[in-house]
Amino acid sequence: MDGNGRWAAARGLPRLEGHRRGAERIFDIVDHCIDSGIGTLTIFAFSAENWKRPLDEVNGLFKLGEWILRANLTRLSRRQVRLKVIGDLSAMPDFVRLPLEEAIRSSASHQAFTLVVALNYGARQEVIQAVQQIAQEVAAGTLAPNAVDWAALESRLQTAGTPDPDLIIRTSGECRLSNFLLLQSAYAEIVFAPVHWPEFTKEQFQLALDEFAKRERRYGQTPEQLQAKPTA
Ligand code: FPP
Repeated sequence: MDGNGRWAAARGLPRLEGHRRGAERIFDIVDHCIDSGIGTLTIFAFSAENWKRPLDEVNGLFKLGEWILRANLTRLSRRQVRLKVIGDLSAMPDFVRLPLEEAIRSSASHQAFTLVVALNYGARQEVIQAVQQIAQEVAAGTLAPNAVDWAALESRLQTAGTPDPDLIIRTSGECRLSNFLLLQSAYAEIVFAPVHWPEFTKEQFQLALDEFAKRERRYGQTPEQLQAKPTA
């Protein structure tokens, strides 16, 4: 959800106003996902590196997160949205951690759609944690070294049980992944949208989906192999 700050600066507004407008965008995009038959959306709300920002902005983001969650709980529940968090929630202040944990608990049985919020999340940190867990299990003799395969690693990532992303959208024209779902994105299509996140409307989202629909996903195969009909 990149470009909140630049969107605000271009209008002479404080950065937090850009974040506020950006936070409001999330729920229209969730609606559009559900209406388009998409099952899961992960939003990068706060990276493990975002702690480097000025304290005022960090606190403002957390207050905004708590407010926007509270203001949209009924809407999420009406649409049967299940909420999940990836990242280290334990470092979050109680006023944002507790309502989030409650929303995760109370939405656990919702089936229509999963909204994953990446909060204090970093892909490298996630991989380190999973590898440490594997090392401990190998040392304890509960996991054989040659049983460490992709399935073993994947099941110890914070995204275990959530499908890999098919499409990653980064707004504001920045063309990098910035420590987001680095392993899970191995075969993801990436769309770099030229607008700042507060301007990312349903129409903009549909443009990204249209772009995705044009991509040919080959997973290492040749176009001819992909076109060959499976033999009966
Ligand atoms: C990137 O814009 C956006 C963010 C770092 C935060 C976005 C998060 C929300 C809108 C929701 C907050 C919710 C919680 C729970 C924390 P930027 O500031 O990097 O924009 P810029 O690149 O234009 O400066």
